[in-house]
Amino acid sequence: MQIIKFKSEPKLNHFAPEWDYDIVICEPVQDKEYLSRLKQLLLKKEPMLINKYHVPKSDGGTMLGLNSVTSRFEYFNLFAWNEPEIVTLKEHIVKQYLAYMDKIGVEPISIWVKGWYNVMRKGEKINSHWHSCWENSMLSCHFTVATEDTSTFYQHPHRMRMVHEEKNVEGTLTMFPSYIRHWTSQYMGQSERITIAMDFHPFSHEEAATKNYAHFTATEESKIVPLWIKENER
Ligand SMILES: [Fe+2]
Repeated sequence: MQIIKFKSEPKLNHFAPEWDYDIVICEPVQDKEYLSRLKQLLLKKEPMLINKYHVPKSDGGTMLGLNSVTSRFEYFNLFAWNEPEIVTLKEHIVKQYLAYMDKIGVEPISIWVKGWYNVMRKGEKINSHWHSCWENSMLSCHFTVATEDTSTFYQHPHRMRMVHEEKNVEGTLTMFPSYIRHWTSQYMGQSERITIAMDFHPFSHEEAATKNYAHFTATEESKIVPLWIKENER
């Protein structure tokens, strides 16, 4: 696990900006056969999801358009699926989350997760966007299922010209704060480029509803599901 740290010097007056965040690159999953099965599962579901939720509201600022499976992100939660490929992925993510918390000396909190995915074809790119910048924002992740020679770019929240480029590697989970703006290079490969995207939340869908967060009012199928629950909160 590689933790790339971004931390400001102590500020010299009340108004100076400050930051302290990481971009975390996990060791890639090496099982090519597993990644291939995951890719096939996602490609099989792509037209079903596009047809089922045919009136998308937004592509999340990615500019992949309203015909993309990305633009159905509000309507389903990939982590609510029971396919073995998804169960395996959940286990991998939990392991990485706990390892990261251990490395930075932060007590892990129970997390819920919402996941969707992007299928990009030759010529496409994901435009600059971010996932959450509210008081409850936590971590977001990408899991690269399939790609050929692409990068994801992460922009510094204050020094806008400081952009961290990370080459996408198949099987790699990347974690970063949900407020960090990010985008991809233009994809020029022949096969589909597929990434799974997700947001971690420190509370369940029901708890979120009581807090009246407007962005947690999507369909039943999009409900946030538990990823990892602390022993004493089960
Ligand atoms: Fe994103």
